[in-house]
Amino acid sequence: MDQRRHDARERARELARTSLERGDATGWFEALYREAAGDTGRIPWADAEGHPLLVEWLASQSAPASGARALVVGCGLGEDSECLSRAGWNVTAFDVSPTAIDWCRKLHPHSSVRYTVGDLLDPPSEWLGQFALVFECYTLQALPAALRERASASLARLVAPGGSLLVVTRAREPGEDPGTLPWPLLRSELARFTTLGLVEREFDERESSQGLGPTRHFRARYTRH
Ligand SMILES: C[S@@+](CC[C@H](N)C(=O)[O-])C[C@H]1O[C@@H](n2cnc3c(N)ncnc32)[C@H](O)[C@@H]1O
Repeated sequence: MDQRRHDARERARELARTSLERGDATGWFEALYREAAGDTGRIPWADAEGHPLLVEWLASQSAPASGARALVVGCGLGEDSECLSRAGWNVTAFDVSPTAIDWCRKLHPHSSVRYTVGDLLDPPSEWLGQFALVFECYTLQALPAALRERASASLARLVAPGGSLLVVTRAREPGEDPGTLPWPLLRSELARFTTLGLVEREFDERESSQGLGPTRHFRARYTRH
């Protein structure tokens, strides 16, 4: 990991610690984006490209039906959203941080992605059941365990009948220490989606990296009947 990425992660952890101590599980994201002041090197998860596990998954799929809607959850700086848009999806992307959303609009000025501020823990009712594809990468693992159940229930509710939820996350084994934020997820945490009206269709365990060197990841897809 390069030094700047290391420093960015340490700063994110510091902001998260203060925010969590105040009982605010998501406020630190906005603080981090604001403090970064347009410097992508200060956002630990910023990459110039879509996540490799998303890029690979898209390459294995046929083009979506014309106008098929995708929702990107916790879109950060929009790399995955742009990737889905290029693959033919009609994309809405949201993030709890208004600064991240402004930044997306500046970074991708000609984009057809609709970038908007939103909270996964309280999504707009008009989104429920509306998306043929919901894509979530690294948001669940950045939320404390106590909030993941609520966040997972929201994710499941956003999927349209016949649609898919695609999740990419760092992975850990039962009994393995989750360590410090971001907390890698257990397979059993993802299995929660099967109690929320979804059916598991794909489950891959892979090495992948995000400025960290290779780490173990899950990529899983669930569908709604
Ligand atoms: C670890 S970052 C990952 C960003 C992006 N998905 C990626 O992989 O590059 C988590 C993102 O989720 C956003 N986020 C956290 N909690 C959220 C919530 N409750 N609703 C919407 N976005 C949230 C954060 O602002 C941040 O941009």
